[in-house]
Amino acid sequence: MKQYDNILIVGSGGREHSIGWKLSNDTKKKVFFAPGNGGTEKNVEIDSDDIMKLFEFAKKNNSFTIVGPEKPLSLGIVDIFEEGQLPIFGPNRNASRLESSKVFAKLFMRNMGIQTASFSIFSDPNSAIKHVHSSSKNVVVKVDGLAAGKGVFVCDNGNEATEAIYKIFVNNEFTNSGNKIVIEERIYGDEASFIALCDGRSIIPLASSQDHKNILDGDKGPNTGGMGSYSPTPLVTENLSNKIMDKIMQPTIKGLNDLGIKFKGFLYAGLMIERGSNEPYVLEFNVRMGDPECQSILPRMDSNLLQYLEAAMDEKLESMPPIKWKDKHSVSIVMASKGYPGKYQSGKVIHGLEFNPDDCTCVFHSGTKKNSRGEILTNGGRVLSVTSLGDTLEGAKNRSYSVVSQIHWGENEEYYRNDIALKGIKYAI
Ligand code: AMP
Ligand code: GLY
Repeated sequence: MKQYDNILIVGSGGREHSIGWKLSNDTKKKVFFAPGNGGTEKNVEIDSDDIMKLFEFAKKNNSFTIVGPEKPLSLGIVDIFEEGQLPIFGPNRNASRLESSKVFAKLFMRNMGIQTASFSIFSDPNSAIKHVHSSSKNVVVKVDGLAAGKGVFVCDNGNEATEAIYKIFVNNEFTNSGNKIVIEERIYGDEASFIALCDGRSIIPLASSQDHKNILDGDKGPNTGGMGSYSPTPLVTENLSNKIMDKIMQPTIKGLNDLGIKFKGFLYAGLMIERGSNEPYVLEFNVRMGDPECQSILPRMDSNLLQYLEAAMDEKLESMPPIKWKDKHSVSIVMASKGYPGKYQSGKVIHGLEFNPDDCTCVFHSGTKKNSRGEILTNGGRVLSVTSLGDTLEGAKNRSYSVVSQIHWGENEEYYRNDIALKGIKYAI
């Protein structure tokens, strides 16, 4: 790979903060963030979708660019940087369709024989509603395009599905992302996130993890970007991990190659491990690290992440040893502004960030910004995540919650789930 002087991380979430934190431990090179947040240093005032400005910055500063979120990937940031011979880590626009179009991903899985919920595709409300009423099973309604995790409706009955179809096609709540929808069978089981590093041919799995998508304890309420995670999850045994590699990850990379698409980057399979059969079904593909999965996975990583990213760029993952993981559990708890994923207020001063950090706890910022007095203010729905390591999952959870309880930004203004990792503790019993 071409020599470079600096690193540029594109994005502003906890995922990007944790990638930057890890890379700063791996290298003495400067790590810039565009646009970053109140917890990241060396921020560059460029929006993560402003590809031309990012290009100019990366060129001027001879940077290796690492892309965190899906949007710039789906807009083709990698294609543009590669054309200009700037080193960049992430999948190109075509490969990103695995995430940016649910219709593409479902048809791809059907063609490749990858296990996923049975589905139909619709582009008008009448036939979609007819389908729902003729189905004897509960369904999940998904908009085709990107919707920041909010375009999926898991329905308990036909009326809920009809309501979702109205929101998408009649109220046009998702604009172009909702031009087509996927209606699929609802699968019951436990979810796991399986993320792997790919160089177009070879695949190295990362440690397993589990996200907590719903806003309320007990997995109730609407979906969010993710309210907490832990790693590893006892759900993904070695056997299951091998099966996921053989039946999902390898066929995906091969199938993309057959379409002339080289996938370089993090490939994330959102899985449902079906109750009873214990079979992994792909609910979705993402073409990037998960947020907040990244915040629980990277603190456990004992290998040099940068060397793996460089090897993926050079298509040399095959020659890399398996990644080493600390023999520890990690738990990451997201603290959000009250009201999220609906309306919430911003601009509150965050107190309690001055706790005594040790090498077992990290606070990764998401929706925060620093004011001219150096205070950290809330600046988004998901504000920050607290990750702790522990010898047991219970220990890591307790340590994270004790730090969370010290962080405040006003009377009852912060919100977090109280049951992060409890599922993992239960599976392990
Ligand atoms: P997705 O963005 O497609 O992963 O969907 C978001 C969330 O909706 C998933 O993490 C699951 O919690 C839920 N979900 C999606 N598809 C299904 C399905 N077929 N059966 C049950 N739950 C689902
Ligand atoms: N935590 C789910 C995601 O990153 O899409």
